Amino acid sequence: MTAYNWSRPVTVEEMYGDWDWEAAVELVGASLNPRQSTAIFDTVESLGIGSDDVVLDIGGRDGSHGLVMAERFGCRVISVDPSPANIEQGLRAVADHEYGHMVELVLGGIEDIPIGDGECALVFSRDMMSHVADIDTGLAECHRVLEPGGAMIVHQVFATDLMEPREAEYLWAEAASVAERMSVANFESATARAGFAIEGLDLVGSEWYEANQESGTSPNYALQISRLRRNKDEYIEQIGEVAFRGVYANALWAVYILIGKLETRLYVLRSHG
Ligand SMILES: C[S@@+](CC[C@H](N)C(=O)[O-])C[C@H]1O[C@@H](n2cnc3c(N)ncnc32)[C@H](O)[C@@H]1O
Repeated sequence: MTAYNWSRPVTVEEMYGDWDWEAAVELVGASLNPRQSTAIFDTVESLGIGSDDVVLDIGGRDGSHGLVMAERFGCRVISVDPSPANIEQGLRAVADHEYGHMVELVLGGIEDIPIGDGECALVFSRDMMSHVADIDTGLAECHRVLEPGGAMIVHQVFATDLMEPREAEYLWAEAASVAERMSVANFESATARAGFAIEGLDLVGSEWYEANQESGTSPNYALQISRLRRNKDEYIEQIGEVAFRGVYANALWAVYILIGKLETRLYVLRSHG
């Protein structure tokens, strides 16, 4: 991540010089056609997942991504999550869904995956690794449930060198994240220890968030932070402290992605078998 260390400061004359402000703003106002987060399923497709395959969605929350994969690829999905509330919500969602019979929701965690050895063609891990304290056990478990030569997709957000220590300490605590999990080097060395090779790396960066801001499918996170800060006590009275901190951390996470303090990466790992 570039910190833009220009060789000298901008002068007042330059700042208010004869360059065309409107033209510059218009230029930046045009979309760069960012990919949307659904692009992760193109990566699943590129691995040839089909109707004979079982996919583990680890940290699959309410099974919603499992339903997308079942519908698109015809695969069976086992969605494992440690939160009883997520499983309960997911059971209601799959019950009403046309492809719900292909998605099994199971309570559990990455440290002790309730699936037998070699049962899965793919482990799909989306935005969950930051919560995992013992990554060696977690990745070893993913490796164990994969068939020999199987693949794992890891979507994860990492800190860049723009993240300052105090900002990091605050955000990891508020987002229930483990500091070591936010390090690319730490993650990549853990994958090697667990018996995975890095087969592919897509540096998504801020692209998906740019897309969700352009399409309006996600809130304006900077605006959320401003409101949360100005109206903190009333919000806490209405929704409680944990909900307030959750919404604040989520908005800060998004803004940090947009301004490059955090970056999204999409890894394809291959089990050595
Ligand atoms: C940010 S959510 C992502 C959910 C889903 N994968 C998605 O992309 O929408 C993080 C998820 O990780 C789950 N999680 C937290 N710790 C976990 C662990 N040790 N093993 C498996 N899942 C975990 C949480 O319950 C939560 O559903």
